Amino acid sequence: MQQQRMLPFKILSMDSLGQGVSKETDKITFIAKTLPGDEGEARVVSQRKGVCFAKLHKLTQASALRIKPICPHFDHCPSCHYLHTSYEQELEFKKQNLEKLFQKLPHPEISLTPAVRRTHYRNRIQLHYHSQKKQLGMIDLKDQSIAPIPGCLIGRDSISQTLQKLYANDTWLNLAKHEPVQGHVEIYELNGEVIVSWNKPYAQGGFTQVFDEMNQLLKAKLKSWSEALPRFELLDIFAGNGNLSENLNYSKRLCVDVYGQVVADPYLSQDLYDEQAIVKVKKKLQKLELTPSVIVLDPPRSGLKNLEQWILEFRPENLAYVSCDPHTLVRDLIPLKNYEITELHLIDLFPSTFHYETVVFLKRQ
Ligand SMILES: C[S@@+](CC[C@H](N)C(=O)[O-])C[C@H]1O[C@@H](n2cnc3c(N)ncnc32)[C@H](O)[C@@H]1O
Repeated sequence: MQQQRMLPFKILSMDSLGQGVSKETDKITFIAKTLPGDEGEARVVSQRKGVCFAKLHKLTQASALRIKPICPHFDHCPSCHYLHTSYEQELEFKKQNLEKLFQKLPHPEISLTPAVRRTHYRNRIQLHYHSQKKQLGMIDLKDQSIAPIPGCLIGRDSISQTLQKLYANDTWLNLAKHEPVQGHVEIYELNGEVIVSWNKPYAQGGFTQVFDEMNQLLKAKLKSWSEALPRFELLDIFAGNGNLSENLNYSKRLCVDVYGQVVADPYLSQDLYDEQAIVKVKKKLQKLELTPSVIVLDPPRSGLKNLEQWILEFRPENLAYVSCDPHTLVRDLIPLKNYEITELHLIDLFPSTFHYETVVFLKRQ
């Protein structure tokens, strides 16, 4: 077997994926589980022109920002990125990342909503398995390795308890015996019941924000923004079950999502990335005699590349863009003409990881 190459590193900064960045060699190297000030040796996992991805092998100098991770799996699990530093520092990294991305857009100061707790929050988790290798855990997409996580702290208590039961005596192997050799399993809570679902598309039982209390704070942000607006009719796209807009003081509302079943009333089931999407939504709005002066959108990480076309078509007075990927968010906002960012919020729905929600409120000039 070919020996993997070792590299010396010295971390100078963090990237947006929670990886330390080193420039010790001719390639920029990204190393998970490191922090600015760390020095040591890393094992190369993959590389391409000018860039290298490596895993931490040995520390010779530890960053002053380091703390002992509270999770026993942190060193090997690819899902959490910041448990080796304080939560205040994690938030600071996230804020710096968002500030850097928004350099391209005029905006007010970022308002931060920290998480109410750092662990024990997810109402759903997804694991990967390989039954021949008896492996169940978090997959590292860089090398497809699976890290076992029986003591994972990220799920709320009911999820953690189910996880422990799956691992106990390899119980999961029996449950997966009629499943393909390799696949994934989702553990999620729905109406107080924990469901274990093998090899189904993500977000079985319908999409829900994964951190209930932080979802309430996110909704409260939208609510207080909307209370200052004159009476409005609302279009909520990528609406799921209408979660984000259900409490707003609209006079009329249309929710649109790709779901097949009706989840809000009125509702349009529509693929919003389809080239006919704007036409279809417009038709439905006309049928409802609804003229949206407010649009709320909350797309998946891929964002909404043609947002400008939506804006040109509907010309809303106000827009709320809720995003779980600040890169696509900024990409989508840059082309918008005549809209001013009035508020920019970082709401931490995914503590311990590099993810967070960004909420941008915009007003037409
Ligand atoms: C980040 S979730 C937001 C859901 C909702 N706003 C909430 O707070 O619960 C993104 C939503 O986009 C929907 N979605 C994903 N791909 C889509 C597509 N191609 N067309 C329409 N909706 C899609 C998903 O079903 C999901 O409900």
